[in-house]
Amino acid sequence: MTTTHAENRNGNYPGKGVGGAVGVAILGKGTVGTEVLRLLGEFSDNLEQRIGGRIEVRGVAVSNLDKHKDAPEVQGLTLTDDARSLITRDDVDVVVELIGGIDYPRELVLESLKNGKSVVTANKALVAAHADELSQAANEAGVDLYYEAAVAAAIPVVGMLRRSLAGDQVQRISGIVNGTTNYILDAMTTTGMSYEDALAEATRLGYAEADPTADVEGHDAASKAAILASMGFHTRVTYGDVHCEGITQITPADIEAAKKSDETIKLLAICERLTDDNGATVGVNARVHPTLVPNEHPLAAVDKSYNAIFVEAEAAGRLMFYGNGAGGAPTASAVLGDLVGAARNKVHGGRAPADNPYADYPVVDFGEVSTRYHINMTVNDRVGVLADLARTFADAGVSLSAVRQEESGDEAHLIVVTHQAREKDLQVIVDTLAKHDDVRSVNSVIRLDA
Ligand code: HSE
Repeated sequence: MTTTHAENRNGNYPGKGVGGAVGVAILGKGTVGTEVLRLLGEFSDNLEQRIGGRIEVRGVAVSNLDKHKDAPEVQGLTLTDDARSLITRDDVDVVVELIGGIDYPRELVLESLKNGKSVVTANKALVAAHADELSQAANEAGVDLYYEAAVAAAIPVVGMLRRSLAGDQVQRISGIVNGTTNYILDAMTTTGMSYEDALAEATRLGYAEADPTADVEGHDAASKAAILASMGFHTRVTYGDVHCEGITQITPADIEAAKKSDETIKLLAICERLTDDNGATVGVNARVHPTLVPNEHPLAAVDKSYNAIFVEAEAAGRLMFYGNGAGGAPTASAVLGDLVGAARNKVHGGRAPADNPYADYPVVDFGEVSTRYHINMTVNDRVGVLADLARTFADAGVSLSAVRQEESGDEAHLIVVTHQAREKDLQVIVDTLAKHDDVRSVNSVIRLDA
């Protein structure tokens, strides 16, 4: 018997469980959970057509029912604080984890997978810390583990690395993956305001959390870097492998110095494949730090709280993905995309491509990474000081690309730009400069790398 297009349009797809409902448990009803529920209601008929079966929410679990006493019901379902009973129900096929934190969601996700439920999570910290364990549990149960929303919300980077570039060789990923810090740096750049004032504005406008530590110290971006590096290089890179520096030390003087060099300071997550002279991969590295980006690079133009991920792959060349990397609706969009994938597989059979860290490259220590540096220092303005300081760089085998000097009274402000140098050699130089009699202060060391 042949199936007509009309039958297909009516959801009469071939395969296991044709037309069957897909039971979904939602864990968490914060900003993202609320948007997911709203969109599931609004898009339900379209989603049924795309999946070939109807999504039915079996329950919504929250950690504290008291917080929801004004709205204890959603879509005719009473909220529960018993997540464990919800995820083990026979009529639940897919669990959507939107709780946040690590330990408690880890237990719930593992239990869901072990019980044969596919899981969709937006939890970057969980995936960056425990992807190996979660992915193994999903493989053993033969179910899906999706986490598109964990990196840059609506921007489809996980699927792009997992599927679209599955046949290519990714060389490097550099991204602005934290909207709060991009907002702060952009405000400092466009208005000249201090870090503290820009953070206060980001908090007032609702970009920064009440406790902004994870954003401004780079931890949130480091989790995303670990996930991107793992996917891009088919190697397990965890949060602990990522060198991480935040933006709290960036001053208006740094911003001004960047402008004079036609550069913009961005907090970049950089994931890099390191090669030997023959082009063979010797390892990978992932890092997060403030970075001077040349103004002609597309990442320099990413303003406000937008995110962008720039990918360089051997055959594809250079690609850039741009958009909303945070917020309820953009994150819910990514969650729904994953949910449709997991639900389709439940209805028709099959699995999504799983994590495959087969390449297992060594994660190279940050000290071995090479990049360029801007070193901003205040020195005594005396004859010969420049030559003397240049010797410090030469002694460490680091070559200089440019020196800019501004005098002010008996002192001078020097900005020294290096050629490519190893991080550990640079550290020796900075330590030596800091102790030098003619160096009054090393004001900042910012990497130039995009
Ligand atoms: N707080 C993050 C940001 C979004 O500012 O981009 C969630 O990862």
